[in-house]
Amino acid sequence: MKADLIVGIQWGDEGKGKIVDHLAQNYDAVARYQGGHNAGHTIVVDGKKIALHLIPSGVLNKDAINIIGNGVVVSPKALIEEMKQFDNLKGRLFISQKAHMILEHHIAIDRAKERLRGSKAIGTTGRGIGPAYSSKVERSGHRIGELRDIEKLSSSLMDYFDMNRDILKTLKIEIPSKEQIKEELMLYKEALLPYISDTTKLVWDLLNDNKKVLLEGAQGTLLDIDHGTYPYVTSSTTISAGACSGLGLSPKDIGKITGIAKAYCTRVGNGPFPTEDFGEDGKKLRERGHEFGTTTGRERRCGWFDAVACRYACRLNGCDELAIMKLDVLDGFKKVKICVAYEIDGKRVEDFVFDLDKAKPVYEEMDGWERSEGVRRFEDLPKNAQKYIKRIEELTSTKIGMVSTSPDRRDTILL
Ligand code: GDP
Ligand code: IMO
Ligand code: MG
Repeated sequence: MKADLIVGIQWGDEGKGKIVDHLAQNYDAVARYQGGHNAGHTIVVDGKKIALHLIPSGVLNKDAINIIGNGVVVSPKALIEEMKQFDNLKGRLFISQKAHMILEHHIAIDRAKERLRGSKAIGTTGRGIGPAYSSKVERSGHRIGELRDIEKLSSSLMDYFDMNRDILKTLKIEIPSKEQIKEELMLYKEALLPYISDTTKLVWDLLNDNKKVLLEGAQGTLLDIDHGTYPYVTSSTTISAGACSGLGLSPKDIGKITGIAKAYCTRVGNGPFPTEDFGEDGKKLRERGHEFGTTTGRERRCGWFDAVACRYACRLNGCDELAIMKLDVLDGFKKVKICVAYEIDGKRVEDFVFDLDKAKPVYEEMDGWERSEGVRRFEDLPKNAQKYIKRIEELTSTKIGMVSTSPDRRDTILL
């Protein structure tokens, strides 16, 4: 059996949580492969809202198991807090022993560096993501599996602090004592030990047993460390390829790939965003779409659908299909716009570009529609909304497999 994959196509917050939860009803396992608690995946069932940061969005399907892969950076503190909202996760949640930990100093370093960047700040979520991945790559990180031996782990952490004493002092970061560290790590061990496992083998076994596995990406393609709008990106491989290293799968293990995109665009934090609308339309999108971050509560920047970026993302991820989310947010607009090309130094460009900050959007305008909210069949959508979806399909050369018309799990059109 091959594992299917869900990936964000834009700058995150596309609605991955809703789709993973919707699909999870038909899967035996859901696995996260990268990112950390910078992610905020919202699920709405019967009007009740649940925000997930580290626990995979399959958790509401009582029969599915949930896996946090080795590519995820795990804040034990954040995870323990998140686990409290669910009873009996034993046997339903598995955390890779190889996943790196986000500890307090990573969070302090993230915030201190953002302050130092001043006007060039990335606008991170302040969750220690960059510093934790830096530690991993620098080979000074610590993995969840090391919680099994607190004495050894705390000594190793103290060695790290000793080596970095001057740097941490400059950043005004306090170094804890070994006793404090041990106390904190003991709490993590007590809470997490039953869940720590060899998730690489677990995923292989599931696939060998013909079980259905869904891989859940966090963030989005344009935040990818290599292919996104660097340096205004996150620190992981957010594209589908990240699922292989982030779980221990081979490219041959990946089945259907579905890209999740909003019917418009949003971005939190800084960095280029060609279709950002600074006027009334942007404001209306923010209000109608409730575009405030799930993780930090920050206002999301809003603008029109960028077909150039979407085409680029579909190719990078190898998308078989796209799910177009939040179509209802465009309800009531007299005209809707799609960016079909960029203009750079007076020239029309149809490919995604290195210097995205120089790109001006070339728009195609289409007539709007009154109401798509809550619609569950494509034929029941207003004609202009159908045309809009079909146009996105044409421009991205990717089949639209799903359209979402409200936060509710059930308000999802399958095509
Ligand atoms: P994720 O990070 O990709 O999982 O997305 P978020 O959960 O951060 O943000 C998406 C937001 O849009 C959440 O509040 C969802 O409940 C909401 N949402 C998802 N799909 C739809 C939709 O089709 N219509 C509307 N109005 N809201 C949606
Ligand atoms: P989900 O999974 C939207 C953004 C931050 C910042 C940049 C780097 O909910 O789609 P980081 O803390 O990762 O170092 O911040 O990435 N960012 C997200 N934006 N959705 C997310 O996750 C994000 N995770 C990080 O706002 O611009
Ligand atoms: Mg989110």
